[in-house]
Amino acid sequence: MPVIRFVREGVDVECYPGENLREVALREGVELYGLKGKLGNCGGCGQCITCFVDVVGESSPGSLSGRTGVEEQKLRRRPESWRLACQALVQHSVLVLTRPQVGFADAEAKIATAKAAALPAGPTAWPMSEEPTAEDDAAISEGAATAEEGLGGRQETTTSGEEG
Ligand code: FES
Repeated sequence: MPVIRFVREGVDVECYPGENLREVALREGVELYGLKGKLGNCGGCGQCITCFVDVVGESSPGSLSGRTGVEEQKLRRRPESWRLACQALVQHSVLVLTRPQVGFADAEAKIATAKAAALPAGPTAWPMSEEPTAEDDAAISEGAATAEEGLGGRQETTTSGEEG
């Protein structure tokens, strides 16, 4: 699975591919926000512009999902490597600096050290459940039949409404 290396905090966090960077950071107790964001943030809607991170390294290009339209608009005057954590999905291992607008001691040395340590390429494993049992198969078939019945009724209504 991808690893997010939080350079300022000096921690590596593993997550599932496709997880939201902000959500992983908050879950793991990594402080994303400066004072303004702590006092009030948009909760991940891409509106408050307080969840900046600087992507300082990637295991491979495209480690995070591409910039969203919101980011293109809100980050126009920021460095290209900055992202809004709430808009970024983690695809592969990545190094990020939280609160890049706030300096800290030995920042360059810490970043260099973080870059020098190897990152797993990721995703190295996908979440897998145990092999399905015969009971699971029966439950899935039963559920599908129920869903088809319900869907059939809804389709008729929708179709007749659209054609009219
Ligand atoms: S949490 Fe508000 S822009 Fe990301």
